[in-house]
Amino acid sequence: MQHPRIIQGGMGAGVSNWRLARSVAEQGGLGVVSSVALDVIMVRRLQQGDPGGYMRRALKAFPDQTVASGIIEKYYNEEGTEEFHDFKQPPVFTVEPVREIQELTVAANFAEVFLAKEGHSGKVGINYLEKIQMPNPASVYGAMLAGVDYILVGAGIPLEYPQMIENYTQSRAGRLKLNVEGAEKGHEYIMELNPAEILRDPPRELKRPYFFPIVSSFILAMTMAKKVKGVDGLILENHTAGGHNAPPRGALQLDAAGSPVFGSKDQMDYKKIAELGLPFWLAGGYSMPGSLENAREEGAEGIQVGSVFAFCRESGFQGDLKTQFLQSIEAGEQEVFTDPKASPTGFPFKVAHMEGTLSEREVYESRKRVCNLGYLRHIFRKEDGSLGYRCPAEPVDQFTRKGGAAEHTEGRKCLCNALLSNIGLAKRYARGYTEQPLVTAGEHTESIALMIQEKGYDYTAAEVLAMLRSGR
Ligand SMILES: Cc1cc2nc3c(=O)[nH]c(=O)nc-3n(C[C@H](O)[C@H](O)[C@H](O)COP(=O)(O)O)c2cc1C
Repeated sequence: MQHPRIIQGGMGAGVSNWRLARSVAEQGGLGVVSSVALDVIMVRRLQQGDPGGYMRRALKAFPDQTVASGIIEKYYNEEGTEEFHDFKQPPVFTVEPVREIQELTVAANFAEVFLAKEGHSGKVGINYLEKIQMPNPASVYGAMLAGVDYILVGAGIPLEYPQMIENYTQSRAGRLKLNVEGAEKGHEYIMELNPAEILRDPPRELKRPYFFPIVSSFILAMTMAKKVKGVDGLILENHTAGGHNAPPRGALQLDAAGSPVFGSKDQMDYKKIAELGLPFWLAGGYSMPGSLENAREEGAEGIQVGSVFAFCRESGFQGDLKTQFLQSIEAGEQEVFTDPKASPTGFPFKVAHMEGTLSEREVYESRKRVCNLGYLRHIFRKEDGSLGYRCPAEPVDQFTRKGGAAEHTEGRKCLCNALLSNIGLAKRYARGYTEQPLVTAGEHTESIALMIQEKGYDYTAAEVLAMLRSGR
């Protein structure tokens, strides 16, 4: 099997959308959509009037039309425009999710993959964050219903995904174990999706997509390669990559700017990785002409590239954020910061310094904390044995009342709302406040500068691929 050499990395939420993935796939790369928050993204697009009719068209192809028409009926707003932000909210995921959110999640993942794959024979993948646990069984099933070719999972140890994928190929229930803080020893909490409970007539067989975990250490690469059946390749992502990073190994040390210090222990030995016998791709700063050759000399099959695609024409970032970011790159003024606190997950998160976004203290402090999307909530066991949910970015008194430590809330940002704001889907509240953006990008921005120099601000995904393939 010849896998694509260039993978356009999954970028949440909605940055690597179906348009970007489709463009990349049409040009022979692996186009990857992000699964993060697709349920909310779909219903907000519908409420903004579904420009172009894409969501409705994708839903028309969904295997259960009762489910699809229920979604359109509830959320589609014919008069909606880009300026519509008073969004109706779907139910939030819990350990015992209401049926509607399971259906929405399956349908939204189906729709994004369906649109990315439409009209060409290129390869399309979907990216999951292991840490966003509750929606993922439904999300994976939805993507497989649309015939997704690759499943890539980062930000965690996705040991159970291959079995879940295998089950779905036979229309059996898929399940993942949930991390529950304070769980009694030996007690397992499970999230399950049974296709027969969601679709009236689920297809009996589905294609098995390739499965690539995204890892940042040899130990994890080895665990995935040796202990898990059904791993087809590895993405090795270093700490310069955009989005979330794995924390440094060993005790956390911060540099003068407050970013975690990564050292030699965080470097992966590609020779040892090659001995695991799986094809691998290198990610994090492999985005210049010649990067592909460099990676192949290290024994890699190819590269996974994010940031330079994140700011191209087809990506989901809203236009003015793209322009502002590209201007800062052109002026040589952008220094992406690795923020150890911003993400409620506790993982370091790369943040671009940008005016008017939550990277600025005043903008951050003027936001009243609220947790209404809940993707990054931690599940915990209460004293009476029932389960609760808390997010370090929620109001501090609520977090501490639920037993969370106040120091864990310091500097935490509501990525759920900010990332939706990045893509033009910010929520506006009755009190007048509109959620503000927070842009993430990788540390290496040379390739973005190169694209601006050669093509201007409105460069395309196809031009990025041509640059990556142009060689040294
Ligand atoms: C805007 C942005 C969002 C990202 N979001 C995710 C994500 O949701 N999941 C993930 O596994 N990786 C994410 N990444 C990482 C990319 O998939 C890719 O591995 C990385 O960007 C490669 O490094 P580069 O930016 O130096 O090219 C993100 C990167 C960017 C720039």
